[in-house]
Amino acid sequence: MPANQNNRQQLSEKVREQIDHWLKRYPADQRRSGVIEALRFVQEEHGYLTQPLMDSVADYLGIPKIAVYEVATFYSMFFVKPVGKHIIDVCTNVSCMLQDAEKVLSHCKKRLNIDLNQTTEDGQFTLREVECLGACANAPAIQVGKKYYENMTPEKIDAMFEELRHGK
Ligand code: FES
Repeated sequence: MPANQNNRQQLSEKVREQIDHWLKRYPADQRRSGVIEALRFVQEEHGYLTQPLMDSVADYLGIPKIAVYEVATFYSMFFVKPVGKHIIDVCTNVSCMLQDAEKVLSHCKKRLNIDLNQTTEDGQFTLREVECLGACANAPAIQVGKKYYENMTPEKIDAMFEELRHGK
């Protein structure tokens, strides 16, 4: 049932089709199982998850709104406010910390002229600090979307931002 009440932002036909396709994996009475993928499809289309969009996901899956909010606010891959085109995730966990992750982080802040959890004025970059990325052998590490940047130095960070700015 598409949501169209007040305080709802209707899910697009494309997103509803994506969700329906995904839900075929689960028993009909287990629509709740599709919440992560449903939120992922919505975020891919809108950039981040507004409350009206999350409410529409809840309606569409037939689950309580709180069940959707819990998932959207628990996982770091979901955004409930606007973010930059590129999310710069700098690992500062133990292995990276021992390999100067603080220097990596401060160089990113200086280059972008923002602090943690802020977005550059041009909307290109959001800077975050994250837990272990599973790339400890090549610490310090940064993740941007699906790509890993490892053994980071100030020079490699500069090259990374050049690459991202020019969409290479
Ligand atoms: S501690 Fe940074 S990747 Fe594992």
